[in-house]
Order: sequence, then C-alpha cells, then structure tokens
Amino acid sequence: MPIIAPSLLASNFFKMEDECKMLNESAADWYHLDVMDGRFVPNISFGPMIIEFFRQATSKICDVHLMIEEPGNYTEQFRNAGADHLIVHIEACPHLHRNLEQIKSLGMKAGVAINPHTPVSMLSDVLHETDLICMMSVNPGFGGQQFIPYTLEKIKQLRQMIDERGLKTLIEIDGGVTVENAATIVAAGADVLVAGNTVFKSPDPKATIQRLKQL
Ligand code: DX5
Ligand code: ZN
Repeated sequence: MPIIAPSLLASNFFKMEDECKMLNESAADWYHLDVMDGRFVPNISFGPMIIEFFRQATSKICDVHLMIEEPGNYTEQFRNAGADHLIVHIEACPHLHRNLEQIKSLGMKAGVAINPHTPVSMLSDVLHETDLICMMSVNPGFGGQQFIPYTLEKIKQLRQMIDERGLKTLIEIDGGVTVENAATIVAAGADVLVAGNTVFKSPDPKATIQRLKQL
C-alpha cells in the first residue's frame, strides 16, 4: 500500500480548519507542505510560520518540501516549526552532503528532491545518506500540472539503485498524480504518492485518498 501525502498547496486556505480535520480523519499518512521562495521556483507559497500552524493541526507526519535557494540557512527554523521530514533540492545545494547531515543532526528525516531534467545518476554518491527521494514528475512551482511520462523510467532506475544497495530510502512522486495514473506509478516502484489537486479538488477528498491508498 502506498503512503499517501496530500499536498496542502491545493487546499482552501480560507477553510483550513475543515481541510485539516478532513485529512486527520482520512487515510492520509503525511501532510506534504510546499515551501516556495520565488527564486528557486517562480512562485511564492508559505514558510515556517504557517508550518507551525499545520504542526498544531495534526499529529500526522509533516513532510516539508523546500523549493528554496540556500535551504541550509533555514534548517533549524523548519525543525522548530515542527517539520518531521525536510526535503531539499539537489539543484539548489552545492553542498548537499552537508545539508543532509545538518537535517539529520537536528533529528529530522532527510530528503532530496530532483527536478524532471536531473538524471537519477546524480544521486548515486549521496543516496545512502537519504531517507527519501522526492522525484518531481512536473516542473516544481505549481500544483495542477500534467504528469511527465518519462518519470516512470526514472522511478524504475531509482528503484533498482535503492534495491541493489539494500537501502531503505523511500521514493516519493510529486506532481500530476491522479487516480488514473497512480497504479502505474506504484508499479514502477514508488512508495509515496503526493497528491494536491486530485485530493482537494475532488468532490469527496476522503474517498479519493482511500482510493489512492488501496491501489
Ligand atoms: C509542485 C509541488 C507539488 C504540488 C503537487 O511544485 O511540489 O507538491 O503541490 O500538486 P498536484 O498534485 O496538484 O500536481
Ligand atoms: Zn511538493
């Protein structure tokens, strides 16, 4: 059964109490929280202050995806805000190994996100330091985009790399996940499905989460 991580980016921020209640009662495993700085990606979302509110709203795992430059400057702030997982982009980190060590030393799980154009082989020398790889299946910055089909090949490559080395690193797929393509994504080797619009724009979000979970 895949781990389901609804992305709150697609939720209704005016009705956040209801959205969180729905998620807490649902089969969702994690909250996926997308932080954007308007520099690494061409969009701005929210930062540690808002994550603190999500932390208070749930006992589920807070999976924080940083789409920001120089993420190492904010590691402690996100830990203090209540992040359980902190994901940094390989493309934003010239000193990735140091960033991962810092995240883990502060007691969080360390994740690396990779953009659609970044080859899986770039992860080779750092994979054993990660708890999670967030593979972008759209160009980061916006919800509601179409899944890029070539990602399926990349999932298979990464699955093989992780299994060959006997690692426990989870593969998370982020962007364009739907009820229709989720089974194929899981069959390719994904462990975690992020879903924003598919969950929050559906007429019955709880039932949609359940459907994704039961694939
Ligand atoms: C995109 C974000 C995603 C986004 C996914 O940059 O990282 O987490 O919210 O949204 P959907 O599932 O709607 O593609
Ligand atoms: Zn994300």
